[in-house]
Amino acid sequence: QANEKESMYLVSEFAQKYFHNTLLNTDTGKAIGYSYFKERGFTAETIKKFGLGYSPDVWDAFTKEALGKGYKEEYLEKTGLTIVKEDGRHLDRFRGRVIFPIQSMSGRTLGFGGRILGNDKKTAKYLNSPESEIYHKSKVLYGIYYAKQAIAKQDNCYLVEGYTDVIQLHQAGIENVVSSSGTALTPDQIRLINRLTKNITVLFDGDAAGLRASIRGIDLILEEGMNVKVCTFPEGEDPDSFAKNNTHEEVVAYLDNNAKDFIQFKASLLVDEAKNDPIKKAGLISDMVKSISKIPNVIQREVYIQECSRIMDISEQVLSSSLAQFLQKDI
Ligand code: CTP
Ligand code: MN
Ligand code: MN
Ligand code: MN
Ligand code: MN
Repeated sequence: QANEKESMYLVSEFAQKYFHNTLLNTDTGKAIGYSYFKERGFTAETIKKFGLGYSPDVWDAFTKEALGKGYKEEYLEKTGLTIVKEDGRHLDRFRGRVIFPIQSMSGRTLGFGGRILGNDKKTAKYLNSPESEIYHKSKVLYGIYYAKQAIAKQDNCYLVEGYTDVIQLHQAGIENVVSSSGTALTPDQIRLINRLTKNITVLFDGDAAGLRASIRGIDLILEEGMNVKVCTFPEGEDPDSFAKNNTHEEVVAYLDNNAKDFIQFKASLLVDEAKNDPIKKAGLISDMVKSISKIPNVIQREVYIQECSRIMDISEQVLSSSLAQFLQKDI
């Protein structure tokens, strides 16, 4: 229903302003939230651009303020900003967290991610808005509103895991970047990018989870008929830490020098692991051909078969017959 959604947008926009104002203009917001972002290396300009905020560590501070301003309990609950207890009492979803507002392609506030301030392993690091009428996390890309022009202009989109990766890269002058926000990448998210460019470079974290997510992402991107490159980071680094610790020129150079097309990326997985292990090598080649089979365009498939043949030193003929088997299975 149109009115209901509009009411949810309005309450989300109010919340965004409330959290942002709390960060900038209250004693606890400044002492705790603002200093947290400063420590992460975010400038005042960055904090303002992304509308970052802080939610006070109080039971119902936000809900009271919103109700006082005339926003209805119904929409506070439907956006997940307020949890209504069985006895009718109100609890703010976000308490004592720094806040990352999540915007749509057109700049409307859809939901929030809230991060704890420390690295206490007992509490979930990020708490996000629940699924709602206006926030479908499988269809949203964090940062798309701020990135869309740069993506179209550069004709490439960097895809990262997290909120802070997007923000830190922006601050380093790389603005064609969006995040899947931890959720496994979905076809809907890829199609959102496809409206702006055919080219995606995956920049996931330099850890086992990031590597796994990159491998999975490749096939999904190929299936949408898009081109995919992968740039990995040193163990323990993510784009945020890398951009924070290097200059703009160094980051640009790193991305340029380390972005590999998916065949080269997969081949590089073999280098340490399985170079002299025929079984592993065969498995990896199969896996490459399987990825190639996801590409809708027959000419592109052929070009990648040639590349795979060259890099893995195996005949095109054999690869083509393997490809034919994968294509058969897909029907
Ligand atoms: N995420 C989440 N819930 C968690 C952990 C992660 O929603 N409990 C999402 C967040 O969007 C996060 C992304 O997954 O930004 C990537 O996770 P991770 O790499 O663990 O976090 P970072 O983005 O690196 O966050 P930070 O640098 O603040 O630790
Ligand atoms: Mn990660
Ligand atoms: Mn990370
Ligand atoms: Mn960052
Ligand atoms: Mn990080």
